[in-house]
Amino acid sequence: MSLSAPDGGLRKLRVAAAGDIHCRKANRDRVVDAFARLDGEADLVLLAGDLTSHGMVEEAEVVCAAAASVAAPVFVVLGNHDWHGGEADEIMQRLEAGGIGVLDRSAVTIEVDGLEVGLVGGKGFVGGFAPRHLPDFGEPSLRAVYAETTAEVEALDRGLHEVATCPVRIVLLHYSPVQATLEGEPREIFAFLGSDRLAVPILEHGPDLVLHGHAHEGSPEGRIGEVPVFNVSLPVTGRDFWMAELDADSGRSPIP
Ligand SMILES: [Fe+2]
Ligand SMILES: [Fe+2]
Repeated sequence: MSLSAPDGGLRKLRVAAAGDIHCRKANRDRVVDAFARLDGEADLVLLAGDLTSHGMVEEAEVVCAAAASVAAPVFVVLGNHDWHGGEADEIMQRLEAGGIGVLDRSAVTIEVDGLEVGLVGGKGFVGGFAPRHLPDFGEPSLRAVYAETTAEVEALDRGLHEVATCPVRIVLLHYSPVQATLEGEPREIFAFLGSDRLAVPILEHGPDLVLHGHAHEGSPEGRIGEVPVFNVSLPVTGRDFWMAELDADSGRSPIP
């Protein structure tokens, strides 16, 4: 591979990412073409949720067809749209049967040309940002929402522990862990677009890169401490894939 160092080890990891591709029958050709153009241009493809339009397995088939046209490994998290149709489990099974790695409150270490890459992912969830959080108080239904975010936070912490020794560590979410990448959305709905509770394990473990989607009208870039956060939602990036090179030697250095 052209980006391999003379000693044979990969030194730069080319990451292609997109959120909110919202596959359906009507955009099948466009999505498949976009993935096919990526072949040979990326070492790793990451999709930040809302893979489908209405959470139907037949829409996940489009994602599988697209991923089959690129040689690089493809990893995804689900988004709220992927849960909408009540077929999330079937969607995850179909994606995995299609060779796509699904990160669902989980972590995995993959090897790309000899470079160990730790991937930690989950949907994330809602709850808002300081000083206006959804509290863990009141009706059981509201407390269940708080508990779902807690489960996502705990999974991120667990996953980041699991990949702690990887030279490259990437967090993939659908909901945002930071307010900066939501700027442009109405402030009244920030609490439904993410939660800074998700930022706690990120700040503690300091991965190289955090990617999310969901905020179609948000902003491209934010930061949690020293960790760069990118909103790779398609309407925000304005292109089929956000691209970056991660330097395996110096750690955190995404070059979009
Ligand atoms: Fe979306
Ligand atoms: Fe979404």
